[in-house]
Amino acid sequence: MVLIRRLEIAGVRNLTSVSLPLLSTINILYGDNGAGKTSVLEAIHLLSSAKSFRGHKLKPLINSDMDSCVCFGEIDLPGQGFQPVGVERFKASSVPAVIKVAGQTVRSASALAENLPLQVICSDTFKLLEGSPAVRRQFMDWGVFHVEHQFHSIWKNAQRCLKQRNSLLRHGRLDDSELAVWTQELVGFGEQLDVFRKSYFDRLVPIFEETLSRLLDIDGLSLKYYRGWDSDRSLCDVLAANLNRDKEVTHTQAGPHRADLKFRYRSANAADILSRGQQKLVVCALRVAQGYLLSQEKGRSCVYLIDDLPSELDRGHRKALCMLLEELGCQVFVTCVDHRDLAECWSVDMPVSMFHVEHGNIDGSF
Ligand SMILES: Nc1ncnc2c1ncn2[C@@H]1O[C@H](COP(=O)(O)OP(=O)(O)O)[C@@H](O)[C@H]1O
Ligand SMILES: [Mg+2]
Repeated sequence: MVLIRRLEIAGVRNLTSVSLPLLSTINILYGDNGAGKTSVLEAIHLLSSAKSFRGHKLKPLINSDMDSCVCFGEIDLPGQGFQPVGVERFKASSVPAVIKVAGQTVRSASALAENLPLQVICSDTFKLLEGSPAVRRQFMDWGVFHVEHQFHSIWKNAQRCLKQRNSLLRHGRLDDSELAVWTQELVGFGEQLDVFRKSYFDRLVPIFEETLSRLLDIDGLSLKYYRGWDSDRSLCDVLAANLNRDKEVTHTQAGPHRADLKFRYRSANAADILSRGQQKLVVCALRVAQGYLLSQEKGRSCVYLIDDLPSELDRGHRKALCMLLEELGCQVFVTCVDHRDLAECWSVDMPVSMFHVEHGNIDGSF
């Protein structure tokens, strides 16, 4: 199991300087509104991606009186022992991020994600059902990234081809032979992305259905993968057929950048019908299913951050979710206002660490 054993946080929102020894897999952070609970989750996210989990803006993440934010962690990796990892981000956009893994400075944040795969369930959770396709692609690609070694480079290549093709389409006088080169490249990478995504989706769905049945008594929810172009034509044919229209609208309409997942409940869009609590449980089942798939296929676990677990859920469903998380065997960080909302949600012999967060300070009881 991947375990964060120690966290040192400085300058992340209202956490000016805190140090957390972590002894348990289940960690509950509780405290009043504005105490700093979500900020702890943000700090852990920083350690996994050098970014905030709420949007791309960096400035709000850094304490208003400080020039940078830092998170340092000791991660216990199975078979590799303790790995120190540190990330520092600066307010001044001219100063690049400092990322260190095992004492070495690394340039790409993807090295962080490989060490510390994270799953976040927060107030943005509902976007997975009701938000734009980009959110669902990101969800799917998280999974493929962690199980298919080649995926990241193919994804980057597809992005590059798409950018080049769109830039040619935008710039008036077109050189058709150059466009054809990028189209052909995009077809190659796009078809590969589709094979990876489709295969991942087919493996994920049965685990998702099994997981959801533990959380919610619901019949008629279906999940479909859309690859970004017609299912009965090759990408090559679709791009050829769309060429004139692509020139008119000056961008590539169909392709892997349009892939999506469709959630239907009976014959309607699931987000329009399901209650907020039901939607939250569907998203939890999806994210837990990804964790199971990762551990089944790679023998690796991820870390779960669940902001305000009790909200939208009744007692029975809170308990069902906690039991599922416990069985998953991953390290979990959960926040709530009142820790009594999660009392009796865990097995009696499960060690649970409690942290009281108050005005940016944290007291632990283990
Ligand atoms: N950049 C910042 N600098 C200083 N304080 C901040 C910054 N951003 C947010 N805060 C404050 O940090 C506090 C903690 O926020 P948060 O972690 O979201 O609280 P909660 O415990 O409710 O999850 C809030 O009171 C907020 O006003
Ligand atoms: Mg919060």
